[in-house]
Amino acid sequence: FPAAAVRELDPSLFVYDPAYMQTASCKSEITYLDGGAGILRYRGYPIEQLAEKSTFLEVAYLLLHGELPTTAELEQWRHDVTHHTYIHENMRKRFVDGFHYDAHPMGLFVSAIAALGTFYDGAKDIDDEASRRKQILRLIAKTPTIAAMSYRFSQGLPFNYPENELSYPANFLNMMWKVGNDYQVDPILERAMDILFILHADHEQNCGTTAMRVVGSSHADPYSSAAAAASALYGPLHGGANEAVVRMLSEIGSVENVPAFIDSVKNGEGRLMGFGHRVYKNYDPRATIIKKTAYDVFEVTGKNPLLDIALALEEVALKDSYFVDRKLYPNVDFYSGLIYQAMGFPVEMFTVLFAIPRTAGWLAHWQELLNDKDQKISRPRQWYTGPDERDYVEIGNR
Ligand code: ACO
Repeated sequence: FPAAAVRELDPSLFVYDPAYMQTASCKSEITYLDGGAGILRYRGYPIEQLAEKSTFLEVAYLLLHGELPTTAELEQWRHDVTHHTYIHENMRKRFVDGFHYDAHPMGLFVSAIAALGTFYDGAKDIDDEASRRKQILRLIAKTPTIAAMSYRFSQGLPFNYPENELSYPANFLNMMWKVGNDYQVDPILERAMDILFILHADHEQNCGTTAMRVVGSSHADPYSSAAAAASALYGPLHGGANEAVVRMLSEIGSVENVPAFIDSVKNGEGRLMGFGHRVYKNYDPRATIIKKTAYDVFEVTGKNPLLDIALALEEVALKDSYFVDRKLYPNVDFYSGLIYQAMGFPVEMFTVLFAIPRTAGWLAHWQELLNDKDQKISRPRQWYTGPDERDYVEIGNR
């Protein structure tokens, strides 16, 4: 229904749809997803082509502007993002240093994103186009810095400053791993990181993006809205699944144990993590690309010993009627954790790695929301199931 028609409806009429499984909360031109056919496109471009030919910064531009940039536009975009990679020294010295020594990097990341908004005049000036663009640039530029800082803090390591002559993924890897002056980012790992960023940049109305839109609809500033989105991602049912995959593969321990593990899943004793998706009822196209990327990474890092267990699980599950009948296929998380682990990231960083590129998607949705005249403050209805009217009982008579 258009907004005007909804206003004419009887207010006592509404749809009960917990988790909004059948409810479109908005119109969107950003990402197209056909879960039955296994199709994912950003602004019409197939994810396979973007992963093969593009870079994350170009994809972020596409998500936010609707079109691929020209050479000059991309150069300007890269320059503008690079200009904002540093964070205020107080963020590092006072804010971050105040956390408990074993703070989870994702908890630190969520808090730092929210805190960042207090550093910039105009963060709340969301009606001003120029100010909005500046906040978008800042968030895309600073998330890798904050992510690397969260990791270095959790390890008790000194913080590496951004090196702006490096590409977006190389700068992040450099801030993560550089010790002394000899560290060089491996180009294969740099490209793998960029591909993983592209694959995670947007996925239409998932839980985190919905949180971004709900909070953004109150006209909160983009930092507070992105912190809400990152909080949603922090939940184990959303961004935490690749961590669960690595733990599951470690517990299975060897290929010989795979059949017994599959039987235990079929007996309802647990789930095959990294399999199944609310929307994809076919092979997740991102999983296909990630599987190929994994082999490129292992050429550099050496094979992750858990890979053979993952391959054996996939082979058994794809032939087993339990999984086939329920349309359970590998999702984006099945192989991504293996890559991250081989690259040296601890499991606590996996969700942070997801949040860096997803920030571009969140901001594209935030911008689209603010430009959509039909969008009002998010305010769903409820189906009241509590008591009927009753009289107050004095405390001594209860
Ligand atoms: N292993 C075993 N059985 C499964 C799995 C699984 N991974 N996923 C679903 N099923 C079964 C359910 O038990 C159910 O069986 P039933 O009909 O006999 O009761 C049936 O398949 C349907 O499952 P639902 O839970 O209704 O499906 P839903 O769409 O709600 O769940 C979800 C999707 C949460 C992703 C689920 O498949 C799951 O838990 N997968 C494992 C976790 C995971 O990999 N999450 C990452 C998702 S991708 C992302 O967030 C980036």
